[in-house]
This record gives sequence, C-alpha cells and structure tokens, in this order.
Amino acid sequence: MGFSRFRMGSGRRQSGLATDAPAVIRVVWIAGESNSRWQPGQTHAGTRKDLMSLANAPTSATPEADGQSPPSMNAIGLEPLLELIRQRRSVRGFDAGRPVPEAVREKLLEAAIWAPSGYNLQPTHMITVTDSARRSALRAACMGQKSVEQAPLVVVFVGDGKVAANHLDLVIAQDMEIGGINAQYEQILRKYVGIGFSPGPLGIGRLIKSLLFPLLRYFAPVPSLPVIETRYWLAKQAALCAMNFMLAAKAAGLETCPMEGFDDRRVRRVLGLPAHIQPILVVPVGYAPPDHTPPAKSRLPVDRLVHREKWD
Ligand SMILES: Cc1cc2nc3c(=O)[nH]c(=O)nc-3n(C[C@H](O)[C@H](O)[C@H](O)COP(=O)(O)O)c2cc1C
Repeated sequence: MGFSRFRMGSGRRQSGLATDAPAVIRVVWIAGESNSRWQPGQTHAGTRKDLMSLANAPTSATPEADGQSPPSMNAIGLEPLLELIRQRRSVRGFDAGRPVPEAVREKLLEAAIWAPSGYNLQPTHMITVTDSARRSALRAACMGQKSVEQAPLVVVFVGDGKVAANHLDLVIAQDMEIGGINAQYEQILRKYVGIGFSPGPLGIGRLIKSLLFPLLRYFAPVPSLPVIETRYWLAKQAALCAMNFMLAAKAAGLETCPMEGFDDRRVRRVLGLPAHIQPILVVPVGYAPPDHTPPAKSRLPVDRLVHREKWD
C-alpha cells in the first residue's frame, strides 16, 4: 500500500517520541524491516473481522455522536465505572447451555481492540473458540481447568512477535488518512519502531542491540526493547486488551476469568499458532449459572499499594 494517496503533513502535530526518546538511541540505527506478512485472521475462529473497518466504524456510544454532551465529557461517570470495576470477579463456573450472543461478543472484541498499545501497533489478536471439541482440547492445555470447557466462549489473547512488519504500514496509513499523524511523525515512528523492533537480517540486529544497549545504559537512559524482551512487551499489550474485554463483558452481564495457567506449546498446537504468535491469556466467557453467588474477594488497602512520590 503506497502512502502517496494519503494526505501528507495535514495531521495534528504530535509530541512525544521525538523529544521523549533518549538521545543515545538516535545514534543507533539498525535498519531492515522484515517483509514477511502473516495475515491477521488466518487462524482466528469464526468470521474474520477486517481490523480497518472495525477500528473505524462509527459508534453511537460516543458523547459526540449522541449530541447530549460536549466532546470533552466522558460517556459514563467515574462512579458507575468504578462500581463496574469492583463488581468484576474471576468466575470459574458458567451456564454451559447459554451461549454468548454473537452481537454481544463482537462488541466485547471491539472494546478489546480500543485498548492502547505501544506506538499504536496493536499487536494483540484474539482467537474466539466456541467449538466444544476445541474447548475440550484447550481445557487439557490449560491444566484441566474446567471453566475452559464449560464456558460457551473462550477468547485467547495472543501477541504478534512480528507486529512491526505486519502492522506498521497499515497503522500509519490509517492514522494518516484520518489526520491523526503527519508525515513528520511517520518518519519518527518508522525510525523508533525500527530501532525497537527490527531483528535485522538473520537476527544480527537483535544480537547487536542486546549487547550494545546494556552498555549504553551507563551513559544515558535506555528503554527496554521489544525486539529483546518480546514476550514481556506483548504481555503488557495483551493484558490491557483483556482488561477492556473483561470489563465490557461485565457491563453486558457476562462473567470472565483471565488465565495464565496453561501449557504454552499445547495451546499453540490446539490453536494452530505460528511461531511468532505468542499466547498470553486464556479467558473463558459466559453467563453465570442461575445459582451463582459472586466469589468474595478483597483488595489490600490502597495505602499499602500506593506510594506517594517515591517508594517508601
Ligand atoms: C495474569 C493472571 C493470570 C491468572 N490465571 C488464572 C488461572 O490460570 N486460573 C484461574 O482460575 N484464575 C486465574 N487468575 C485469576 C486470579 O486468581 C484472580 O484475578 C484473583 O484471585 C483476584 O480475583 P478477582 O479477579 O475475582 O478479583 C489470573 C489472574 C491474572 C491477572
């Protein structure tokens, strides 16, 4: 996809990357993006959603769209949101006979994709599993956790280890088209995503970066690089998507449970994941059974977990 057909330089001026990125990184430029293209949606169950149309679909839920509140106002108030957050519980028993309506499922998936992501690269994909034989196989890969088979829907959040090669052009094209970024920011984005993500030919770039960056740290602040700490980077991104998803599910009257108790290789096999796709969280979704009582859960006092200004 060529960029010439998009409005260049008409977007809002972006701040952040150019000034925030450590100066030392600017002297390290290891070019070479892979051209390989894993097609998003290839292994997804059910009908494949085109990310572009999904991301740009108008929504009547925005305050601007309903015309009732000025754009600066939030769609829902703090207290209702806080109450929803408090009420979400990890639920491990589901009404196996009550499926999640397709329209609701699609909205939850949309909630997930609106999560923020590093450089807006959107590395998290979701694999929806409703087939009972596959849920059964997934249960075995999830250390036999019963709810994976019982829930009518299981969503597996996975991260794309080749996201820079797979999404960068697409994301830039979309954000340029809506005026979200301009040509200057595009250049900055390409440069820093190259530094942060490109493994270089035969992975030599990754090797050089893993040796060089710890040394550079003695002279200037150096961030952790996704190309070196890929799983860690992908896990952060997917966790944010999963949280959006679980809160949206709760708002729709559904229950969920995030799960990391699974055998990586077996989950890969059940879902047919390519090597660069990393499973991060398995989330069973469904309605609670009629006799359900929400599990009691406490949280530590805020003052134990919040530190003002510095660790104390
Ligand atoms: C990253 C992560 C992994 C988790 N893995 C599992 C799991 O494999 N199985 C499970 O039953 N619960 C799992 N949980 C759920 C936690 O046990 C639960 O969130 C915690 O006890 C707090 O309860 P609450 O979610 O109801 O507030 C996981 C939670 C997180 C955040």
